[in-house]
Amino acid sequence: MSEIIKLEKVEKHFKMGESVVKAVDGIDVKIERGDFVAIVGPSGSGKSTAMNLVGSLDSPTKGKIFLDKKNISDFDESNLAQLRGKKIGFIFQSFNLIQNLTAKEI
Ligand SMILES: Nc1ncnc2c1ncn2[C@@H]1O[C@H](COP(=O)(O)OP(=O)(O)O)[C@@H](O)[C@H]1O
Ligand SMILES: [Mg+2]
Repeated sequence: MSEIIKLEKVEKHFKMGESVVKAVDGIDVKIERGDFVAIVGPSGSGKSTAMNLVGSLDSPTKGKIFLDKKNISDFDESNLAQLRGKKIGFIFQSFNLIQNLTAKEI
């Protein structure tokens, strides 16, 4: 089986005024092509933050993320957008619909 997603010591920090929230604090994950995986944990444990990193919606503060063997940790906005368009499908928790457009118009 080939490795499709790999996270090495990944961290994501958010600055909240004076303090820093370590939403993801050093995770290692390896997922093979064809695996069916669920990330489970209490509210606030960092699941959405981790999914945003794997889904190339956000970049890690530290650590490395490999998608299809390519290190995407340092990708800029434009490279991440291209990658999302080609490789990622995402079903969001909230609808993320655009108020005054129909699906056809989008
Ligand atoms: N954009 C953000 N700015 C500041 N803090 C955030 C942000 N996103 C998430 N957090 C914080 O990071 C932690 C993990 O949140 P989250 O990834 O949404 O957890 P989960 O999806 O498991 O409920 C929480 O303490 C949350 O308040
Ligand atoms: Mg969540």
